[in-house]
Amino acid sequence: MSTSPYLTLNVVDLTHETDDCVTIHLERADRQPIASQPGQFLTLIVPCEAGKRPARRSYSLSSTPHETPRLSVTVKRVPGGLVSNYLLDNVQVGQQLEVMAPMGNFTVQPNAAAARSLVLIGAGSGVTPLMSILKAVLHEEPQSQVLLVYGNRNEDSVIFKTQLQALEQQYAGRFQVEHVYSQPLGSGGAHQFKGRLNRTMLLRILEQRHALPPAQAEYYMCGPEGMMAEARAALDLLGVPAERIHRESFVASADSAEAAAGQPEGHGTVTADDDDAISARTVTIQYEGTDYQIEVRPDQTILEAALDQDIDLPYSCQAGLCTACRGKCHSGKVHLDEREGLSDSELKQGYVLVCVGHPLTNDVVIEID
Ligand SMILES: Cc1cc2nc3c(=O)[nH]c(=O)nc-3n(C[C@H](O)[C@H](O)[C@H](O)COP(=O)(O)OP(=O)(O)OC[C@H]3O[C@@H](n4cnc5c(N)ncnc54)[C@H](O)[C@@H]3O)c2cc1C
Ligand code: FES
Repeated sequence: MSTSPYLTLNVVDLTHETDDCVTIHLERADRQPIASQPGQFLTLIVPCEAGKRPARRSYSLSSTPHETPRLSVTVKRVPGGLVSNYLLDNVQVGQQLEVMAPMGNFTVQPNAAAARSLVLIGAGSGVTPLMSILKAVLHEEPQSQVLLVYGNRNEDSVIFKTQLQALEQQYAGRFQVEHVYSQPLGSGGAHQFKGRLNRTMLLRILEQRHALPPAQAEYYMCGPEGMMAEARAALDLLGVPAERIHRESFVASADSAEAAAGQPEGHGTVTADDDDAISARTVTIQYEGTDYQIEVRPDQTILEAALDQDIDLPYSCQAGLCTACRGKCHSGKVHLDEREGLSDSELKQGYVLVCVGHPLTNDVVIEID
């Protein structure tokens, strides 16, 4: 029996982190805990525009499981953005918000016996899931070390400033923040660097501040695509194995679609190549024990066609990032506009994201997780 992924939560507090960023603290009315893992995200379902389907957006948890029953998300204003502006301008203590339960794979599994070194690399609102991860590790792994390299424009744009300072004091010797400011207001300090958080800067910081050989640490990064590409280049130069590098994207990158090739037999084909024309097709969706036949127009994704036919599929970012809409393609051929959310192994097994998926043949059958 499947349980509903939807929850109605009360806004119990707000923390204004910076001029354009607020943390929204949420709890169930009965204050029962909600299962989550550090680094996961919530999907907020927000009725921003009258007469339209409520908008959904993903927001990483800045809270961590030991703060239960509270779940917190931290929203930064995106100029011209629908939901971030709506939330920053309208959300109030006492109101209710509909959400989908926490999900996502950008997580750590804390282990009290672990003695590891985590390097977290973030910029702007990308610090949010890193906050969740660092609080969990510091709280639950007394022998582990955490270094946060955090890029911002200046001291005033630092999200969680007070909380980070308090954690540095509480976990002195185990937790350090290295700030990188592109346009600092002050003249600097012991743990401040001036410039952009690019590969040269990261190599400099790791050389100065990180005691272990770089390949022995675990790396979690979240921020703008350019920063993550630079960080990845620095870690490659240091010889860090790919399996020690974890990344979360908030926005789709224009060029991240890559072809998946060589899928074994037994399921459909998933491709990001453009050589097959997209035209109107019939798709079978298997969801919660029912088979739905849907017509997908060339200008629609499979998710959009399903929603137009009132099939209540799970989804969140609608950009191929969060995997809320993941399904397995059992037959036929599907084109993905974006594949950031899926690993190479998932693509090879025939997994698809219906929010960015278009059928290329008439025999597509997709089972939604
Ligand atoms: C897994 C995941 C976790 C996320 N966690 C957080 C979080 O913790 N905090 C947070 O503030 N946001 C987070 N986001 C981003 C968030 O979901 C929204 O995309 C963001 O708030 C913008 O939504 P909007 O409706 O205001 O803008 P939209 O109306 O959707 O977009 C307006 C324009 O802004 C661009 N845009 C969208 N997002 C960004 C961005 N982050 N930076 C720059 N330009 C952007 C869009 O491409 C578009 O051109 C996360 C996204 C994902 C996929
Ligand atoms: S809804 Fe996020 S990947 Fe499809």
